[in-house]
Amino acid sequence: MAQPLELNGVVVWPGLLDRSEQEAVLSDILEVMAVAPPVHPVTRWGKSMSVAMTAAGRFGWISDRRGYRYEEHHPQGMAWPPIPASVLAVWEAVAPGARTPECCLVNLYRNGARMGLHQDRDEADLSQPVVSISLGDEALFRVGGLQRGGPTGSIWLRSGDVAVIGGAARLVHHGIDRVREGSSDLIPGGGRINLTLRVVTSADGGAAP
Ligand code: SIN
Ligand code: FE2
Repeated sequence: MAQPLELNGVVVWPGLLDRSEQEAVLSDILEVMAVAPPVHPVTRWGKSMSVAMTAAGRFGWISDRRGYRYEEHHPQGMAWPPIPASVLAVWEAVAPGARTPECCLVNLYRNGARMGLHQDRDEADLSQPVVSISLGDEALFRVGGLQRGGPTGSIWLRSGDVAVIGGAARLVHHGIDRVREGSSDLIPGGGRINLTLRVVTSADGGAAP
């Protein structure tokens, strides 16, 4: 594996997946999306998110007028498809010895979609990392610290890059400022897909908080 970079404790592996590996993961994720279509979640306040989301694994992360949470079913009622083996292999490569991920959140960025600074903290076992896989168009990834409002830095994530948000950086604020439309030809119809793999339950098998 190439040398990783680090940004505020987040470890980034540039180009971890080569083009054929990206194509293999993408084809598996397109199958997930065919079974469980991406939807634009709404917030508790009724505002539609610009990112469209679906998931694979036991849990998916959803948001609606009742708030946000992990759920075992897609908003349209079906169970989430299993996490593809091609995606699990990336987790194994960058998080050896970690628990098996229970959610692969699929974020689809098109038409100027972005994601504001936030923490991933809806999971019960924060000793486990979040692993992010970027496919398609380049995205400006902003990473801050544990406190909101602190200094931030940013890095362009390109197709095939993998980021690990774990250890002391597990709760850092992060977000996507913008996506460079048309910068990659990987995804039919264009855009960016980000996969985040997460362990959702506590180590004793309990539910998410
Ligand atoms: C996320 O924080 O859930 C997504 C990050 C990304 O799109 O790279
Ligand atoms: Fe996140």
